[in-house]
Amino acid sequence: MDHSVVKKVEELLAKMTLDEKIGQMTQVRHFDDITEEDIATKFIGSVIHTQGPLPGVNAQEWQEKFTRLQKKALSTRLGIPLLFGVDAVHGQNTYEGATIFPHNIGLGASRNAQLVKRAAEITALETKATGFNWAFSPCIAIPYNEKWGRVYEAFSESTELTEEFARASVIGHQGSQLGRDSVMATAKHFIGDGSTDNGVEGGDCTLSPEEVRERLVPPYRAAVEAGIGSVMASFNSMSGHFMHAHEYWISDVLKGELGFDGIMVSDWKAYSRFGENEIINAGIDVVMAVDGDLQMFHDGLKAGVESGEVPMERIDDAVRRILTQKFRLGVFENPFPDASLIPQIGIQAHRDVARQAVRESLVLLKNKEHILPLDKNIPKIVVVGEHGDNTGLQSGGWSINWQGSLESYAGSTSILQGIEKLAEGEVLYDKDATGAHKDADVAIIVVGETPYAELFGDIGGEIDAYQLTLTEEHQNYINTYVNLGVKVVTLFISGRPLVTTDQINKSEAFVAAWLPGSEGDGIAEVLFGEFDFKGTLPHAWPASEEDYKGKYGPNFWDDSVKPLFPFGFGLNYRDETSENDTTTGK
Ligand code: BGC
Repeated sequence: MDHSVVKKVEELLAKMTLDEKIGQMTQVRHFDDITEEDIATKFIGSVIHTQGPLPGVNAQEWQEKFTRLQKKALSTRLGIPLLFGVDAVHGQNTYEGATIFPHNIGLGASRNAQLVKRAAEITALETKATGFNWAFSPCIAIPYNEKWGRVYEAFSESTELTEEFARASVIGHQGSQLGRDSVMATAKHFIGDGSTDNGVEGGDCTLSPEEVRERLVPPYRAAVEAGIGSVMASFNSMSGHFMHAHEYWISDVLKGELGFDGIMVSDWKAYSRFGENEIINAGIDVVMAVDGDLQMFHDGLKAGVESGEVPMERIDDAVRRILTQKFRLGVFENPFPDASLIPQIGIQAHRDVARQAVRESLVLLKNKEHILPLDKNIPKIVVVGEHGDNTGLQSGGWSINWQGSLESYAGSTSILQGIEKLAEGEVLYDKDATGAHKDADVAIIVVGETPYAELFGDIGGEIDAYQLTLTEEHQNYINTYVNLGVKVVTLFISGRPLVTTDQINKSEAFVAAWLPGSEGDGIAEVLFGEFDFKGTLPHAWPASEEDYKGKYGPNFWDDSVKPLFPFGFGLNYRDETSENDTTTGK
């Protein structure tokens, strides 16, 4: 490690009171938990932004707000600057007008590590332009059950692919090492988030420690080797033991064996949820003290240190890690957001990369009689379904709002707009699948999931608003046009593979489009053959609901369930094989 940083950290640490140290370990939301004055009086170390209310109407106002808060931090006795963290998980997706990339599952389908790196670079730049220096991304979960509502946040169920993309994403966010030009990346959620029994968010992961090491740890090792600045702990338990309070995995394995020297940040409200001072003793360095946790965290940790429950060395270790990253990121010298970056938000060059990502993420699962690519001269095309012309619906959760948006947002283009741009014949839109266009030559039916994030998206969980199949309504969109005798191309918008065997059988062509984000017009470029399909499945695709009787869905490492399509499957225009008709008897 850089000796000058070590020296500066030690000098500063030696001057700090316990209150100042606990303050550095505290992360707050920039509204509702605190007043601006609290930043100074409570010596707050970092600020989190997840979604609205917006800090302001545009990036300039966001920067002004964070500048004001930073000035409060700098006005304290030791003048330690704040870090500003944001859930920028597929672009700076909390800002309307930013470039929003396909969610990670789509990047997983692209198999293109270079693209993952480039997407992270652009995300980092737009993240900085809105006033942040810390991103809570990438999610490097390994989802083993598609019932989990966060499958789309992760690249793939493949350890190797996730390992490669973890490295690419960290380097994209931070550069070759954490420095002044970096946005600090966060590998999350350590560990077992995607591998809980039955895919329950915050549930129990019962993989053995050996399996965890073999399957889940390698992407973290890759992230640490790439210099990841922070890691976020996971809501789940490991065989009954809260992950946040798991000293073995956090301190012995991640910090010890893997040599992670950055910040271990807790997840939301973890202090009151997962054992208070136990999580500090296990190795959590920064606590998201939100939703009413702020005072209890401060008082509880202080009392813990005074009683000897939490050793002072643990506090010092946490604060050293925090100060070290602040020095590495250069926030002492450059504490304020850079206004000159604002014009780069959502520029065409960034959107072009996101559109490339959309194209490369598409997976062609069926193409009977080579109905695709579509001829641009087809006299009449009908686009069907509300997902066809709504960029909120095509973007999934963590898009403008935490749970996503049901409406289109600024700067984005819809799937329909892309089709209209390229088609030379007539393009009609039948939002509610009334079946009004039976004379159409082709129906492009856009169906799938409505946006969700975290436990709201779990299938069969506490909230249980989603299902393993398409909704009946969306199944009927397809049925309506099939029954009219129109050739159907189905575009499937979803955060995960679902049981769609019947719909695949009924469609002439079926495309898994995942959650493309702001550049919906990229899809038409592939449908009309300007580009070929490149995507291959990042998850095995289920054949039936029976596939989910056990703890996990159909997995490429587990032969006990035979998927409809294996991991890695994907058709294209170049390899013209008879396999393209994948209609099955199931
Ligand atoms: C999620 C994290 C996220 C955090 C902050 C949590 O509920 O699990 O992924 O970074 O909230 O918004």
